[in-house]
Amino acid sequence: MELHVADHPLIDHKMTLLRDERTSSSMFRELVAELVNLLTYEATRSLRVVPHEIRTPVSAMTGVTVAAPLPLAVPIIRAGLGMLDGFLKLMPYCEVGFVGIRRNEETLQPETYAKRLPEDLADRQCFVLDPMLATGGSLAATVQFLLDAGATEVNAICLVAAPQGVELMRQRFPDANVRVLIAALDEGLNEHGFIVPGLGDAGDRLYGVVD
Ligand code: PRP
Repeated sequence: MELHVADHPLIDHKMTLLRDERTSSSMFRELVAELVNLLTYEATRSLRVVPHEIRTPVSAMTGVTVAAPLPLAVPIIRAGLGMLDGFLKLMPYCEVGFVGIRRNEETLQPETYAKRLPEDLADRQCFVLDPMLATGGSLAATVQFLLDAGATEVNAICLVAAPQGVELMRQRFPDANVRVLIAALDEGLNEHGFIVPGLGDAGDRLYGVVD
């Protein structure tokens, strides 16, 4: 597993607004979309393309187009859904699979309640979307689903991460072709498993409290 921390003043500025407890849900959703746009540029650096012949108004040329099979975007429901539109805006060439995972609040273990993925992901580049990498359980479970289905490369885009989550990903995927791009690496987790300083519960801030 390879970790990449985005280091950019515009991302840091938007992350500060996102973290601020006074930021409304509508502004939070807007900021998430903007941040995903910026991170997608970096996360797709290894996007596979093939030569593509076109004619400009002046001459023929060989450009590139996204290679088949098309990449797969996988938002982890719920909070990852808040990142999907921003991602698809830059990557409309994707198909989309869904994984629903919620963390058990007592054990902090991930519980999968939905999974709608192509059965065969051989040769597919996958892009997992989840704003939070806390203990790492949810992301590790999702990445394992994708690798088990034959994905050759998994890129995860997260907004905030705790060192514990990064470490779990390193332990679980020491050699696999897995990259994690984050906007910020925070201090750690509190006794409830929340990232500190973090941004609270991303799902609740996007969509409100459901339970
Ligand atoms: C949050 C978050 C991640 C997960 C991270 O989801 O969106 O999916 O926790 O925690 P982990 O790294 O310790 O697994 P949550 O379980 O709150 O569900 P929600 O997105 O439906 O709110």
